[in-house]
Order: sequence, then structure tokens, then C-alpha cells
Amino acid sequence: MRIILAPMEGVVDDLMRDILSAINPYDLMVTEFVRVVDQLLPEKVFYRICPELQHGGQTLSGTPVRVQLLGQEPGWMAENAIRAIELGSKGVDVNFGCPAKMVNRSNGGAVMLQYPEQLYNVVKAMRDAVPSDQPVTAKIRLGFNDKSLYMENALAIYEAGASELAVHARSKVDGYKPPAYWEYITDINNKLPIPVIANGEIWNKDDAERCMQVTGCDSIMVGRGAISLPNLAAHIKGEAAYSWQQALELMLQYTDRELEGRKSTYYPARIKQWFGYLNRQYSEADELFRELRVFKTADEIIQVLRQARAKLPD
Ligand SMILES: Cc1cc2nc3c(=O)[nH]c(=O)nc-3n(C[C@H](O)[C@H](O)[C@H](O)COP(=O)(O)O)c2cc1C
Repeated sequence: MRIILAPMEGVVDDLMRDILSAINPYDLMVTEFVRVVDQLLPEKVFYRICPELQHGGQTLSGTPVRVQLLGQEPGWMAENAIRAIELGSKGVDVNFGCPAKMVNRSNGGAVMLQYPEQLYNVVKAMRDAVPSDQPVTAKIRLGFNDKSLYMENALAIYEAGASELAVHARSKVDGYKPPAYWEYITDINNKLPIPVIANGEIWNKDDAERCMQVTGCDSIMVGRGAISLPNLAAHIKGEAAYSWQQALELMLQYTDRELEGRKSTYYPARIKQWFGYLNRQYSEADELFRELRVFKTADEIIQVLRQARAKLPD
């Protein structure tokens, strides 16, 4: 079984990847997307989104990291794919699932799911450009307004030479609303000879097992669940789920590292966002969030976290 950490723009950055890879046996992590429009992007853009490129394309704990590109122009996608690989990315992924309006106005992301030949052209150009020993992978939703093209899209990506395909089992209009339609992944997995990675609504070990059973996939990708239960991948592979105390310790560790890092101004927003996900798993997170949500500065928030920690046993 392979477990892959999903790309999550504005949520899973290099610090979160590092923290999660230290406590989970992830097989791969995919970065937030690099937006490709009409140029070969400077190296610094790749290093900003994927600082792991400075360490051989892996987290400090050794989990491989793959850069994700988002764009529609095959030539520029190919050029930037080469750059990602040359800088040390472990393969390169393309995002055909992003529902953001800005992106869709300029024809990248999920809007392309209406045009299977465009998916083909982008993946083919990237595949032709990148050395054959490096995976070129894609991530799709089941469609844009409806799911009618799900198989055409999957086949177009396979025929273009993709090494594997991650499928988020919802259309763009489904947003993030449950359920995830895993049975469409079953069809795709039955048809495509390449590995298909099942994604959507895996929050715990039971979901992971059911998803693999329904889809027949032995690779799964977890996104929101990985933030909600911080040791989700380890748990799926047999470890006990983190207690609230362990989750809180992890948040304090994250806090120390975020504040010494380059993104400390975002800390209050980031930690509140994380609470939004932890609330699903821990009722204690909900209580604590109510206490700290009025605070705007890092110092105030840290104080509340430390007080909560002090109340728990050693
Ligand atoms: C806040 C957020 C940001 C996301 N950013 C990306 C992204 O940059 N690239 C991408 O392919 N998918 C992105 N996704 C989609 C996730 O990778 C994943 O497909 C989706 O959340 C479903 O999986 P889950 O139910 O395990 O969360 C994002 C999802 C969320 C909630």
C-alpha cells in the first residue's frame, strides 16, 4: 500500500510537510502548485514552493517530494517541468483539479476537464520533455460541470504517457461536499494499466480500507484528513491514532518552528486554519479554538496553547 500526502495550497507548505513526514510513513508528498502561464519561471519560484529541492527533493525525514505545476500551455508546462526535475523534484505532477475562479478564467486547473485533448497535449509535452526515468503524473477531478468525461479524461492522460494518475472523486461543482464518488475511481482503475491513486474523504483507517476495497487501488492520497488527524498515515498502517495531547504537542512544535521561520506573520491565520481541521477529530480542539479565536497576535495564541498544555498530564 502507498500513502501519498495531497497537495493543499495555503495549508500544506514545507514546514507542514516536514512535521507530518517526521511522524508518518508517507511514500510521497506533492507540493502546492507552481502557476505556469507564459514563461520559464525563475529557480527561486520553485525553491519558494518546494524548499526541499535544496535537500535532494526530500523532507528532512527522507520523504520524497514532487513539484506540482498548474497551467494550460503545453510548451511552457514542458519547460517548467524540465526545470523542476533539474532542480531535484522527484518527478513532476500536473494539477487538473483546481476549482479556483482566477485559475479557471485563464484556463488551468479543473476547467480543462472539459477538453480531454488539452489534457493530452499538456501531459504529452511534459512527458516528451522530462527524462523517462522521472515520473510525470497528473491529478484530476471527475469533471467540471458534470462527470460525463471522467473516462475520456483519464484515458487521454494515460495515452499521453502519464506514469500514474491521482483521482479526486468529485467534479468541480461538487466542491468538497461529501460524498466522494469512489465508484468512478473503480472504473478508471479497471481500465488504466498505470497506477491509479484514490483520493477524497479518507479521514481514518476505516475510510482508507473501504476506499481501497471499493476502488481496487493500492495507492491512496489523503488531504484534509492528514491535517485533521496528524498521524493519519501511521494510523492507517496500524499505529494508534494521536491523542489530543499528542496533537497539542505537535501544534506547539509547529508554533516554535513557524515563528523562527520565514512565514511567522502568517502564524495566527495558519494555526486557526489548522484548528478548523483538528476540530473534526478532537472535541478539545473545538473548545480551545473558542478560547483563542478572538486573539490576533502570535504571543496571545501561544499563551493559550501553553496554558492548555500545562493542564494536561506529563
Ligand atoms: C485548502 C485546499 C487546498 C488544495 N490545494 C490543492 C492544490 O494545490 N493542488 C491540487 O491538486 N489539489 C489541491 N486540493 C485538493 C486536495 O489535494 C484533495 O484532492 C482534496 O482535498 C480531496 O481530498 P481529501 O478529502 O483527502 O481532502 C486542495 C484542497 C484543499 C481543501
